Amino acid sequence: MTDSGRHRVGKVLIDRDRIARRVAEMGPEVARRIDADGGPGEGVVLIPILTGAVVFVADLIRHMPVRLSLGLVTVSSYPGATVESKGARIRGELPGNLGGKRVVIVDDILDTGQTLSVVTDLVREQNPAGVRVCVLLRKPPSARKVPFEADHVGFDIPDRFVVGYGLDYNGYYRNLPEIAELESD
Ligand code: IMP
Ligand code: MG
Repeated sequence: MTDSGRHRVGKVLIDRDRIARRVAEMGPEVARRIDADGGPGEGVVLIPILTGAVVFVADLIRHMPVRLSLGLVTVSSYPGATVESKGARIRGELPGNLGGKRVVIVDDILDTGQTLSVVTDLVREQNPAGVRVCVLLRKPPSARKVPFEADHVGFDIPDRFVVGYGLDYNGYYRNLPEIAELESD
């Protein structure tokens, strides 16, 4: 579907308090997984996939009592006014020097799986000590175009286009404090 109709913010699926409570659980969960995987190795690197993960990662890391660094990667999969994935395109460089590191890739949502599988494959090429994937939202398996499993999931949601808390439509609505459905005429 392209943006021929008009769009507006619709029903709230997850309000700000539920998001905050879940993110406060997820930070320690991810930290415990790092320990269970054998500890930090040569260092813990969180890789948020921008731009959508920017709000989530900012909240998540403040619930992670771990010595970590951030390595940003920018990927576009919904360029322009569309609610249909156009496949993952990496913009710029992936962080380097991940060899021996404990990497956690962070994204806002697992949808078709294309973005996360491309980024995960590129990270693995650098031979990190381990790679885990943490997403706030996950659409049902029927949304996947490539098989992909995340290690940490905040919420399972229906196969609808959602905005808020970092997720955008055509670049807007990332600043909504809740996750809402996008409605169209
Ligand atoms: P995937 O490659 O299809 O799994 O898409 C993942 C990326 O697409 C996410 O990082 C989001 O930026 C974007 N995306 C997927 N579903 C939605 C949605 O419902 N609303 C807003 N962005 C979405
Ligand atoms: Mg994104």
